[in-house]
Amino acid sequence: MVLVTGGTGLVGSHLLLKLAMDNSKVRALYRTPEKLAQVKRTFSYYTSDAHSLFNKIDWVKGDILDIPSLKSAFQQVTHVYHCAAYISFSPSDFKKLERVNREGTANIVNMCIAEGVKKICYVSTIGTIGRTVTDEEADEETEWSRQHTNPYAITKYLAEMEVWRGAQEQLQVVIVNPGVILGPGYWENGSGTFFKTAHKGYSYYPPGGSGFVSVADVITIMVNLMDSDINGERFITVAKNISYKQILDRISRSMGKKPPQKRLKLWQLQLGKFADQIRHVVTVKPRTITNNTIYGLIHPTTFDSTKIKRALEFEFEPLDAIIELSAKLFIAEHS
Ligand SMILES: NC(=O)c1ccc[n+]([C@@H]2O[C@H](COP(=O)([O-])OP(=O)(O)OC[C@H]3O[C@@H](n4cnc5c(N)ncnc54)[C@H](OP(=O)(O)O)[C@@H]3O)[C@@H](O)[C@H]2O)c1
Repeated sequence: MVLVTGGTGLVGSHLLLKLAMDNSKVRALYRTPEKLAQVKRTFSYYTSDAHSLFNKIDWVKGDILDIPSLKSAFQQVTHVYHCAAYISFSPSDFKKLERVNREGTANIVNMCIAEGVKKICYVSTIGTIGRTVTDEEADEETEWSRQHTNPYAITKYLAEMEVWRGAQEQLQVVIVNPGVILGPGYWENGSGTFFKTAHKGYSYYPPGGSGFVSVADVITIMVNLMDSDINGERFITVAKNISYKQILDRISRSMGKKPPQKRLKLWQLQLGKFADQIRHVVTVKPRTITNNTIYGLIHPTTFDSTKIKRALEFEFEPLDAIIELSAKLFIAEHS
């Protein structure tokens, strides 16, 4: 039996569809029934058989912070894909990030050890890969430091430490470190906000860029790593390093919108940070522009995926197909 945490999220829902299509015996954690509707919608993007594939999954109500709820979820489980996480870049969310990402991962690792699980695949992020100070691409060995690092990345790094602790207890582990994951359906966070932004037709784009990858490639790599003999390794999972201008241009064109023309200047970002701070105080919504995000925009790092390409003889798909699909589905759901 395979267990998936975070099955109601972007990565987890796509992974569940693949596992259900492959006829794997699969169980998934969910916290609230409302979130299951998005999983069904995600399945329906790719298949007319969404209903019966969804019903193949053994859904168990549970929270990674609630150990008793994990006990029944882990029965007869041999392999775990740990995709659940809390994503926020707001310093005021550090406590929650630390609980869900580090403590939640510690709970999952402890359950794996206690229940004799064979292997875990943990979804981390490129935020736990060190930054290069030159134009050189960062790889899995580039030294990481907390300096200029956002709270989300810090807690994902601490979560990786929990996974390595599991490795020392004979648990087989693989970690993927994806860049920004492009995929449809989760428009309010992550890469979904690129589609929202492009659809609004803003004329400004942020400086810098990041590593990007399609959700399909991320889950193919996860499943292939899980099915392989590879153990005790982590892998950067980036199809392409591109600027935010390039990605917004590409998404805007897919939506029939005018691409943004004006680069945000440093003073505008600082002003944005100030306005974001006020919005945070008034609405209590997480901050999105902080000193660390501005630093990351001005000092972008690029990432080298040679290790995963060699390990699995893997070729990443061009990003065009996932951008076209996501743009088409965004328009269909917002018109
Ligand atoms: N999206 C990206 O661009 C990106 C890039 C790099 C790495 N990652 C990593 O990839 C993984 C999946 O990300 P995603 O984009 O799929 O995120 P997502 O769409 O925000 O989904 C997060 C998932 O985690 C679950 N979750 C959160 N707190 C939980 C808790 N206490 N107990 C149980 N489940 C909990 C959520 O459940 P609910 O539905 O109940 O909230 C949801 O299923 C994460 O580890 C993330 O750090 C994402």
